[in-house]
Amino acid sequence: MRIDIVTIFPDFFGVLDVSLLGKARQARIIDVGVHDLRDFTHDRHRTVDDTPYGGGAGMVMRPEPWGEALDSVITADSVVIFPSPAGERFTQATARELAGEQHLVFGCGRYEGIDQRVIDHASSVARVREISLGDYVLNGGEVAVMAMIEAVGRLVPGVIGNAASLDEESHEGGLLEYPSYTKPAEWRGREVPPVLLSGNHGAIAKWRHEQQVERTKRVRPDLLPSAED
Ligand code: ADE
Repeated sequence: MRIDIVTIFPDFFGVLDVSLLGKARQARIIDVGVHDLRDFTHDRHRTVDDTPYGGGAGMVMRPEPWGEALDSVITADSVVIFPSPAGERFTQATARELAGEQHLVFGCGRYEGIDQRVIDHASSVARVREISLGDYVLNGGEVAVMAMIEAVGRLVPGVIGNAASLDEESHEGGLLEYPSYTKPAEWRGREVPPVLLSGNHGAIAKWRHEQQVERTKRVRPDLLPSAED
């Protein structure tokens, strides 16, 4: 998979060098290019924003540098993602869809957003999705893009050594994950549930499923109808 990121804070993405994603980059399973939007400006101050037409608070990102930056990375096969609190909600299903793509381009907006014509133009040359991490507002798209890249990257074949660990985690199968325990069997007077020490795989699977349903009912009842599908 190839990932291109356009941002005014390229240093922010240094974190992609570490951990599992860093290894995936070294192994060339995931190739990442980070592009400074200001490199596509032509004025002395490397201006990327201006006041909004129609008035209002804040600044809007100008279309020209965005146009040039996106022209340099987009192909007809790209999926272009603009993180935005006004976008569709990012879920595990979104992550799975994006993990099947060859080329993702992330455009990190700042301020009050990017001139709408940039999104409209990108939509005329590639598939575009505006995606929100959740119902809250961040200062810009960078943190949201990091979260999306981590969620997508770990689903790309070869990134996680033990692929089976992906099957039983939260949001796979519409339920939250069951609680996990390791040694010692007793810690500060708290015991590991005896069924997990029983060696009875059927009983363990049943207990874990019950825990998933109970936890989901308690903290995320909104997830349950889709779990019944
Ligand atoms: N940019 C600002 N807020 C955001 C959010 N909630 N999700 C994605 N991108 C954003």
